[in-house]
Amino acid sequence: MSAGAVGRAHPRLEGPEKVTGTARYAVEYPLEDVTYGWAVPAAAVRGRITRIDPDPALAVPGVLAVLHHGNAPRLSPDVEPELYLLQDPAVHYRGQLVALVVAESIEAAREGARQVRIDYDTEPHSTVLTADHPGLYRPEKVNPSYPTDTSEGDFDAAFDAAEVRVDATYRTPAYHNNPMEPHATTAQWRDGRLLVHDSNQGSTAVQAALAELFGIPRDSVRVISEHVGGGFGSKGYPKAAVVLASLAARQVDRPVRLALTRQQLFGPIGYRTPTIQRVRLGSDADGRIAAICHDAISQTSTITEFAEQTAVYTRSMYAAPHRRTTHRLVRLDVPTPFWMRAPGECPGAYALESAMDELASACGIDPIELRVRNEPTVDPDQGHPFSSRNLVACLIRGARRFGWGDRDPRPGARREGRWLVGTGVAGASYPARARASAATATALPDGGYLVRINATDIGTGARTALWQIAADALDVPPERVTIRIGDSDLPPAGVAGGSMGTASWSWALTRACQELRDRLGHHSGSLPPEGLTVAASTADEIRAQKPMARYAYGAHFVEVRVDAETGEVRVSRMLGVFAVGRVVNPTTARSQLIGGMTMGISMALHEEGLLDERYGDWVNHDFATYHIAGCADVEQIEAEWVAEEDSDLNPTGVKGLGEIGIVGSAAAIANAVRHATGVRVRDLPIRLEKLAGSSSFT
Ligand code: MOS
Repeated sequence: MSAGAVGRAHPRLEGPEKVTGTARYAVEYPLEDVTYGWAVPAAAVRGRITRIDPDPALAVPGVLAVLHHGNAPRLSPDVEPELYLLQDPAVHYRGQLVALVVAESIEAAREGARQVRIDYDTEPHSTVLTADHPGLYRPEKVNPSYPTDTSEGDFDAAFDAAEVRVDATYRTPAYHNNPMEPHATTAQWRDGRLLVHDSNQGSTAVQAALAELFGIPRDSVRVISEHVGGGFGSKGYPKAAVVLASLAARQVDRPVRLALTRQQLFGPIGYRTPTIQRVRLGSDADGRIAAICHDAISQTSTITEFAEQTAVYTRSMYAAPHRRTTHRLVRLDVPTPFWMRAPGECPGAYALESAMDELASACGIDPIELRVRNEPTVDPDQGHPFSSRNLVACLIRGARRFGWGDRDPRPGARREGRWLVGTGVAGASYPARARASAATATALPDGGYLVRINATDIGTGARTALWQIAADALDVPPERVTIRIGDSDLPPAGVAGGSMGTASWSWALTRACQELRDRLGHHSGSLPPEGLTVAASTADEIRAQKPMARYAYGAHFVEVRVDAETGEVRVSRMLGVFAVGRVVNPTTARSQLIGGMTMGISMALHEEGLLDERYGDWVNHDFATYHIAGCADVEQIEAEWVAEEDSDLNPTGVKGLGEIGIVGSAAAIANAVRHATGVRVRDLPIRLEKLAGSSSFT
């Protein structure tokens, strides 16, 4: 019988190493002869470097080299424009990393970076997204490969004919990924081979990119990422630090450590694009939606295109016969936006789930009931059946647990002393996907097992979850299983991204373990000293998956208190109920979900990249001035899940839960603030002057 490790709470396997400081991160490996890099950001917004004078930097004691486009080793131009670093004099945005100082100490590198003299030829720039920007265009596709626009039925006619109409525009600012461990790398070349210890969300992809950039075979590159201090999407693809460190190590022929500074995480690594989103909903008086349209505008850079899939959330969430979604983009003189926890779904759900609340108010219907009335029976976008869809179950269970039933729907009706109190709800969904991966399982002569896969644990608990899954697949107690991840020498695997890490990796591990059990069943005699190893890959199986709508769902419930004098918002209670397939480890699952919800509080109330057009950059680019939710901002937060079996996903039945916690959570807060105060804030964050300064403030 199964050992039954899956479903049981278990602390992280590497927890003791992490809390005692013995877990090594990318720039913490002891190393002889190591040198230090410090990147130099461009001080111009748009233009060209006309001259670099490295001499003042080279005069700093301990400085070994100043790398720039005039002297850096050459890279292949065929990889990704973002990675073609120190190769040409073009400047695409302020803060672009245009030089790198290498020194014997980190202090010397930093001082050297301050001393590099760079002259620029500058051109006028455009860095602010507006709805009427002359550069707006229609991208070919949106991230990762969705159609740009969709249309079914006749939206315009149905919207015009609707009894109740909502037509609202929502705005979200730039948000910045700020993992605790910055983008960081230690790079060393030995005999034409490149070894990097790197902080990323998937070292198989980093290995491939480095091999191509430097024109060497893949097996000449090894990327070790045993412990990673977070990523939030920004490390989902190789970025500047690993390339710069590898270039520098080749140049000085010594190991180089490079950690970007906190300030350098505001730009060069990507960020969540600002959005301008118009949502239109047309329904009958009972709230049955006939027409739904979501038009999203966002930005990209002049280096490469990143088109966020902001309106894709609306394609499959609620039923309506007439529907349309569009994406438009503008190329600005800014860093390229990139993935940040639920790119697309997160800002898209803020808009749609706010608009649903506006429609509920306009119809005089409870916002939960409105969502129940607009449940689709098949995916409204593709027409495929849902592998499972438990949005309504989440809403109903959440309503009961939260105490939604006795809610007075009138805005501004509840006051407790100086506080206006309100509650809000929002739905959530996130795709349940998997990517092909490979794994091996080994039976050892001492009765132990070793499983190997190049998965990445970015702090999620993935290592522990995979270990539990492997134990069950081998049908042995987990104590007998050892797991190795985080090294490109291990069987190749997909990234820790798109909430598909565990689904992808557990699939391959399960197949390897099952195959090993079969082989052991037919095996007689003792095992050889190296044990018996089997390998599995899921490439064929994943390709053969039948088309189906596979999503995780959730419902957020929020209570806010708003200071009636100042407009200060406090989130006093937050509950998320999720349908995420099988939950492997309740401890780590809960922390992923409440982590996402906490980022939702941050998004709703605190975070905002403030860009100054004159200067062409964000002016708040550190933790003193870019505010994020802290512990004191989180009063009561709880996540739970409904039991859900889904046999059309993958052998372990997991849907993924890294991202869904942030989807919809900011809308639930905005909806609660509207209920508390009567003020609908349609541009995040909800700052006090947007409330106390409003004439409808109760
Ligand atoms: Mo997630 S933003 O796909 O790492």
